[in-house]
Amino acid sequence: MVKGDNINDIIDHKLFSEDDIHEMCVRLGAQLTKDYAGKRPLVVGALKGAIYFLTDLTRQMDVAHQLDFLDVSSYGDGFESTGKIKVVTDLAADVKDRDVLIIEDIVDTGLTLKFMKDLIKKRGAKSVKCCAMLNKEARRNVDVDVDYFGSKVGNEFVVGYGLDFLNMYRNLPYVGVLKPEVIQKYMNK
Ligand code: IMP
Repeated sequence: MVKGDNINDIIDHKLFSEDDIHEMCVRLGAQLTKDYAGKRPLVVGALKGAIYFLTDLTRQMDVAHQLDFLDVSSYGDGFESTGKIKVVTDLAADVKDRDVLIIEDIVDTGLTLKFMKDLIKKRGAKSVKCCAMLNKEARRNVDVDVDYFGSKVGNEFVVGYGLDFLNMYRNLPYVGVLKPEVIQKYMNK
């Protein structure tokens, strides 16, 4: 583990500023307020990356809802999905007959989201939708709907605002692209 990295020095360029993300939350919050009016959904945060987006998004939703968390493992080495997904920490709530809204940081291949949606549907939820901050649509290799998203993003590895590299850099207040030398440094360890 290399210590002393200044988090603002690890970014090549910014993709989404704090204002951009705030605008996404306001727009999506208004849409979700309309679509979930009168429904009392169960909002499920996908740990750990979605918590930053979730807390800002739900405060833009004028809908009474309950909150739960689900942690499933997807990435083996920090970059590529291993394809093997398992539940690390399960939901506390019973989802039977509930309208469930999964909050994700980013949907990449779609494997993680498909796993979560299938699991929740199998347990008898009335509806299961997803709101993701970012959508790497071009990388999708399974058929799964990202029902709401803040913005599309290309095939670059992004960190910040919940998104991590080796479980670091989640606390950057914006989303940016990692400098290639940072990736090299840790990959050579
Ligand atoms: P998927 O199963 O391939 O769709 O992967 C989804 C998960 O991979 C996300 O919830 C993130 O944790 C992680 N992920 C995918 N792309 C990125 C990225 O660019 N930066 C950080 N994490 C990513």
